[in-house]
Amino acid sequence: MTESKISLTHLLGLEGVSAADIQVLIDTGFTFREVLDRPIKKVPTLTGINVVNLFFENSTRTRISFELAEKRLSAEVTNFSAASSSLSKGEGLKDTIRNLHAMKMDAVVMRHPVSGAAQQLSSYVDAVVINAGDGTHEHPTQALLDIMSLQERFGRVAGLKIGIIGDVAHSRVALSNIFGLQTLGAEVSVCGPGHLLPPHLSDLGVSIIPDVDDLLSWADAINVLRIQRERMGVGLIPSVREYRNGYGITNERLARHKGELVVLHPGPINRGVEIDSDVADGDQAIILDQVLNGVAVRMSILYHLLSAKGAA
Ligand code: CP
Repeated sequence: MTESKISLTHLLGLEGVSAADIQVLIDTGFTFREVLDRPIKKVPTLTGINVVNLFFENSTRTRISFELAEKRLSAEVTNFSAASSSLSKGEGLKDTIRNLHAMKMDAVVMRHPVSGAAQQLSSYVDAVVINAGDGTHEHPTQALLDIMSLQERFGRVAGLKIGIIGDVAHSRVALSNIFGLQTLGAEVSVCGPGHLLPPHLSDLGVSIIPDVDDLLSWADAINVLRIQRERMGVGLIPSVREYRNGYGITNERLARHKGELVVLHPGPINRGVEIDSDVADGDQAIILDQVLNGVAVRMSILYHLLSAKGAA
């Protein structure tokens, strides 16, 4: 393993991160993928380093993936769950973090419901901060694993046409994908109910393709966003049946378009809503490749950020 070549101190988002840094993180991700294929899937890279996983919001994939990545690198891992913490006694984020900081952690992985929380955290601590999803802002590690999976499938990212389908307005996955994909030279278009496509998309260089069949004809790959059922109660999403008819990815719909279209989904999946089971489990989907690449690219992120800090 060579010395880290990235210029980042934290990973708070992909906005403004250079193509060179993204490419180094992904390339090292492929190196760690080889480690994950070995009988003993562990390297001593982060021995003596402690990492705290702070999850103030539910998570399955990201939380487990980070914990596995940390353990595969031989780090000491501490998990913090908001539900069982003193937050329930009224303690705020700043005091929670300052107390944890006093315990001298080297890195903090945080998911939080408030946009900008990771940035705020980075001003409270001198540990490496990794954003595991902050509100509707960014989810940079998800985007990096998505981009790594596209590179694995196509051998390149530059020049690819990527469609993002669903509630883009509330999706941190969408925003991080837009930043990362465009930085590496991919073209991004979105499709979804008009009121769920934010007005500033054109400022980001993203085009809107209103009809999902037109998007499928245009794209090399589609990233199907989870329909956030919790938003149905506030009237942002039509009925499940209506949404599926308008935007659901079904085999019937895919069959009308070129066969090589690749399907990604960040999870958790609502089968029969934004994507049908036979698509999610079919040959065109790379959803489980995304999950495996997630562990590898998170190993890469931890390795590079902690090396840059001189901790690894
Ligand atoms: N993709 C993703 O962030 O999933 P989790 O919410 O389960 O972590």
